[in-house]
Amino acid sequence: MKAAVYYENGGPDVFRYEELPDPKCPAQGVLIDVQAISIEGGDVLNRAGGPLVTTPHVVGYQAAGTIVEVGAEVTQRAVGQRVTTVFPFGSHASMRAVGWAQTFVVPDSLSIEIASTIPIPFGTADECLFEYGKLSVGESVLVQGGAGGVGLAAVQLAKRAGATVFTTASSDAKLDRLKDFGADHGINYAERDVVAEVMQLTGNRGIDLVVDGVGGAVTEQSFAMTAYKGRVMMYGTSARDFRKYDLSNMRMNKTIVGVSLTPEFATARVVEMIGRHIADVDAGALRVEIDRSFPLEDAGAAHAHIESRNAFGRVLLIP
Ligand SMILES: NC(=O)c1ccc[n+]([C@@H]2O[C@H](COP(=O)([O-])OP(=O)(O)OC[C@H]3O[C@@H](n4cnc5c(N)ncnc54)[C@H](OP(=O)(O)O)[C@@H]3O)[C@@H](O)[C@H]2O)c1
Repeated sequence: MKAAVYYENGGPDVFRYEELPDPKCPAQGVLIDVQAISIEGGDVLNRAGGPLVTTPHVVGYQAAGTIVEVGAEVTQRAVGQRVTTVFPFGSHASMRAVGWAQTFVVPDSLSIEIASTIPIPFGTADECLFEYGKLSVGESVLVQGGAGGVGLAAVQLAKRAGATVFTTASSDAKLDRLKDFGADHGINYAERDVVAEVMQLTGNRGIDLVVDGVGGAVTEQSFAMTAYKGRVMMYGTSARDFRKYDLSNMRMNKTIVGVSLTPEFATARVVEMIGRHIADVDAGALRVEIDRSFPLEDAGAAHAHIESRNAFGRVLLIP
């Protein structure tokens, strides 16, 4: 198979386009011919600094394609089915072998490109808002980094649940587009004081629930602008700012929760929840934004485009 690989962590230029042996189909897994790879925020972070669990390493969580082989013990999937897959690494390649439970069947009417982008962003946003965030109708939600993959999903799901949705982004152009996804208030964090603006917009009350995948100084702000009994769902570290937090001000009965989809991923609850989001995207009730597609051999350029902060929604690789 063809793969975008690297031998050491670093900037986007660490990628090399190489021929690797095809992966073996596990007894409880499937082998897929990959047709679309969705580059996740975590892929970019892992390339920059994560451990190399294989050498050369094929990074990447999400890819979709057609099953070409099923393992001897698999009755739940069949050759020829189109699936979207999730696994901690291995997406940046023309073939992928994963356990059948890490696959979701793609409806005939849904494009494989769109399907490749759905499970992790919508799954994570749903966990932050509902399973851990306990969002109630009429509450306010602030989505930090709303133009990212998880951010766009969170804005839509929060709006659909009846929340007043605030979001931040690095440009007015991104904030304008976020209105189409359900954002009621957009704050350009590159130019404005987000905490002051939120406090002014909420009559000094603050936000009920913050969904924060940026981390660092941004999470300090998230905690500062939550309301009485407010909750901060911290699910990511896009800013690569790994500071420690001062939580000594406990007078407001606030909660901060670290949310991870991974430990819950194969549970029946999460499988059903992600399946619902795939069906909703297929039906047009939820949207995915594809910013741009690059050939797999240009993985470095695709990662550089994401790091330029000019992308809105997902960047894909096509083998
Ligand atoms: N816990 C979990 O289960 C889970 C699941 C999925 C993802 N994650 C993590 O969540 C984070 C976001 O994932 P994603 O896939 O949504 O990423 P993404 O699509 O790349 O979006 C990240 C967003 O963060 C914003 N941002 C704000 N400050 C930033 C900074 N200093 N550097 C880079 N971006 C910044 C960017 O928008 P602006 O340029 O407009 O600010 C961008 O839209 C990543 O850390 C990822 O590893 C965790």
